[in-house]
Amino acid sequence: MSCTSRLRCTINGVACDREIDPRLLLVEAVRDVAGLKGTRVGCLTGDCGACTVRIDGAVVKSCLVLALSVEDRAITTIEGAGDLTEIQHAFVAENGFQCGFCTTGMVLTAAELLRDNPRPSEAEIRRAISGNLCRCTGYDGIVAAVRRAAEARARA
Ligand code: FES
Ligand code: FES
Repeated sequence: MSCTSRLRCTINGVACDREIDPRLLLVEAVRDVAGLKGTRVGCLTGDCGACTVRIDGAVVKSCLVLALSVEDRAITTIEGAGDLTEIQHAFVAENGFQCGFCTTGMVLTAAELLRDNPRPSEAEIRRAISGNLCRCTGYDGIVAAVRRAAEARARA
């Protein structure tokens, strides 16, 4: 006999009201219930940042969160974040990705950094992304992309 529980939240501004397995992680709910595959599954241990989403605007590693714990909260995934244009352009311009597996987490983490610190130093950028692993080791391009995005926003 299967046991389910009801999850009510919003994902990218759309109401989600579904019966789910209470053991489901948020990353699994985002990908497999909501069908939003831009959020990646990497380590499932909180180490790689591939599963990064926003909960009520704050970046969170969604493999560390039970889906049922986001009752009545607002989830935003890479598909629904509307404030990433300069950062995405900068990642393209600076070759800030290779396979792209880490890019969702890197971009959302960079956006949070630039929101809180619009002109970060290189050291501050490296510290901010230290919880996100790039298995292609493309860190120099990622740091350059975040700097470029900061400069673009400063000019805007
Ligand atoms: S899959 Fe969540 S931190 Fe790696
Ligand atoms: S670009 Fe491949 S994991 Fe970062």
